[in-house]
Formats: sequence, C-alpha cells, structure tokens
Amino acid sequence: MTLRLFAHARPADVLPETFIGATVVVIDVLRATTTMATALANDAREIVACASIDQAREKAAELQRAARLACQAGNQSDVKCDDMILTGGERKGVRIDGFDLGNSPKDYTPQRIGGKTIVFTTTNGTVALHHAHRAKRVLIGALVNRAAVAHEIAQFSGEVHLLCAGTGGQPSVDDCITAGAIADAVAEAHDGIVLDDTAALYRTAWRSVSDVAETLRNSAAGRNLLDVCLDGDIESCVRIDTLTIVGEMRGGRVTPTAATRTISL
Ligand code: MLT
Repeated sequence: MTLRLFAHARPADVLPETFIGATVVVIDVLRATTTMATALANDAREIVACASIDQAREKAAELQRAARLACQAGNQSDVKCDDMILTGGERKGVRIDGFDLGNSPKDYTPQRIGGKTIVFTTTNGTVALHHAHRAKRVLIGALVNRAAVAHEIAQFSGEVHLLCAGTGGQPSVDDCITAGAIADAVAEAHDGIVLDDTAALYRTAWRSVSDVAETLRNSAAGRNLLDVCLDGDIESCVRIDTLTIVGEMRGGRVTPTAATRTISL
C-alpha cells in the first residue's frame, strides 16, 4: 500500500475526524515538540500533555497523590515522592506561575527530569496534540529528531498527516519548514510516497532555506521568544537530527516509541 503524506498549517484547517485510522506527527518546533523530544531523550519517564493550565494543575495533583501513596506503601520520604511529578510549560513564552519548569529545552536536563513524570501544557503545542486524539498513532516531530521521525514514518503505509501547531491560531513558518524537512527526509527514504500539495510546498520551502536558525528567528514564534528574551532557545531547536527518540502519545501520555528506544542513526 502507498504511503500518502499530508500537511496542515494549523489545527483549525483540519477536522479531528480526518485523522481516524491515520498517523499524525504533531510539530511545534519553537518549542513544545523540541522540548518534549529533549525531555524523553534525557530519560523523562513520561510527559502528560494537557491542553489547559487548569487541567495540568489537576492532573499533577492527582499524580502527586498517587505517587505519595505508592511511596508511603514503600516507606519512602514524601519530599522525594512529590519530586517525581514535575509541572512544565509556558504561556506567552514564560514559565507558568507555580510550575517547576518552563518550555526551554535546555532546562530539561537528565539531572532535573530523569526518571520523572512531567505534566506539560503549552500555548499551541499541547493543544495541537489534543486535536490529533482520534488518530491511530500520534508522534512528536521536531528538527532535533527529524531523521528518527522520518525513519519511523517510512515503515508505514496508508495516511500520515504532518500537523503544524501554528502560532496564535495562524500558520507559522517555523512549523511549516519543519514539516517540509520531515517530508523531504521521508521522500528520500521511501520510493512509493505520495505528497499532497501542501506537503510538497513545505518540502520545496525547506529545500530553499539557507539559514534555518535565521528563518526560525524571523517567524512569529521566533519573535515571540525574542520579546521575552528567550531567542537563545532557537539554537537548541535547530540541532537537526541530534536526537534519536520519537515520542508517541497514547491516552494523553507521551513516551518513546518502541522502535526509537533502541535505534541509533
Ligand atoms: C507553544 O506551544 O505555543 C510554544 O511551545 C510556545 C513557546 O515555546 O513559548
């Protein structure tokens, strides 16, 4: 069966029902999906993706209660048990009040997040993830894990949708060229692939980019980061093909796919 690749500039352009039976790769390169890939590569136990701050607070409290009970049963200290559940994410680019972590990939170090559950919510990225909930499989795509995502997709047949998160409900060039980069890598690896016109357009755009960091810096998402003095994070987001992990969301929880727990590119 042929592999058909579709691309969408933002969630509003595609109904969730479109994804039934298909694989969706959600892309929010600045910075949510880059941060999630980084957290998994640095041994986070799992990421619980929440669409709102309230949902994240409730989920974190619920998981903390469960962790404390499990610790008490095992006779461990409450402080250590509470620290097993971290909250992370942003609104307007900055760490949410009372959250442990923001959305900078560089904060998600093995020392800080290794072995831990991260309850995570961001302005556009986690909303796009929830938009894809009817898909058969939901993968997390970024430039840092572009080759690993392409490798995973190239094993499929049927429909794969590259869903860009966009910025503030609008298409955003950073996500579109990342979709193009993934489409390009899949097309190189898979002879029988058919790209829809949007995926073909993004592939052409990606191939015409000479300075990826500069292109991201000039996007709406890049300018938002500049406004809060976090444009330094762009360097972390353009480390193309440096991570071999691909996250997959099942029931709101993101963990590495079985294949990418073991591969090295
Ligand atoms: C988002 O989900 O919109 C982004 O991750 C925003 C950000 O990184 O500040």
